[in-house]
Amino acid sequence: MLRKCLFPVAGYGTRFLPATKAMPKEMLPLVNKPLVQYGVEESIEAGLGEIGFVTGRGKRAIEDHFDTNFELEHQISGTGKEKYLDSVRKVIDEANFSYTRQGEMRGLGDAILQGQRLVGDEPFGVVLADDLCLNDGLGVLGQMVQLYKQFRCSIVAVEEVPREHIHKFGVIAGNEIKPGLHQVTDMVEKPAAEDAPSNLAIIGRYILTPDIFDLIRETPPGKNGEVQITDALLTQAQRGCVLAYNFKGRRFDCGSVDGFIEATNFVYENVYLPKQAELEKK
Ligand code: G1P
Repeated sequence: MLRKCLFPVAGYGTRFLPATKAMPKEMLPLVNKPLVQYGVEESIEAGLGEIGFVTGRGKRAIEDHFDTNFELEHQISGTGKEKYLDSVRKVIDEANFSYTRQGEMRGLGDAILQGQRLVGDEPFGVVLADDLCLNDGLGVLGQMVQLYKQFRCSIVAVEEVPREHIHKFGVIAGNEIKPGLHQVTDMVEKPAAEDAPSNLAIIGRYILTPDIFDLIRETPPGKNGEVQITDALLTQAQRGCVLAYNFKGRRFDCGSVDGFIEATNFVYENVYLPKQAELEKK
């Protein structure tokens, strides 16, 4: 069944330079928690506690974050500050982490293919940590796992975006089989607005069946000379079935400075402050 989730994290984070010169962009704190930890918590909540990172050079801080820091633990044990480590301790207890490297940046499809070493022959999730997805109820990946149990095929998360932003995304066309769920008939990576088959943009959450690996191997470089997961998924849709799910919740584009600030303000008010109030009571 579904147990594993890949996190492609090899990207440079140039939009956040100089902050990301010596620090992975995934470690940028959204208030007091690194961006990537939100995605990892969403994955654990969805039941995917086997976490595989596809990393690159300069990403070691991610490995250290999801590992025990004995000195720090020793320093704060028995003091009032211990509670501040609780959230990451919980993650470390509930998940297992493994790592592989993408030697060359050849696109998201290639990054996922590198993850085959960690995933093997099982269906798996993919989280792009830049897309922060928040929901009051079950998280987006959890919603997709429920759908997977019913349909047993690859699923991409989609959201309606205004035409002027559509060129930044993979875009789908499909037949609506029930409210909010489309069977994909077409998929294009970052089309010009006038060529976009719809306004349904792919968001960084996927459930993929393992036949995707062979399809990625067959996929020639596409948009920007990179091997695109969108292209491999189109082949999968044409030969079998891929679903596009209009998820419940809110998505922030933390790959851009504006989206990151918007997410920071939202998390501060709606997540951090209520949590602090709870901690004060303890
Ligand atoms: C990737 C995918 C794209 C998807 C997007 C979601 O693009 O290639 O299809 O819409 O993630 O965030 P990136 O933003 O990594 O260029």
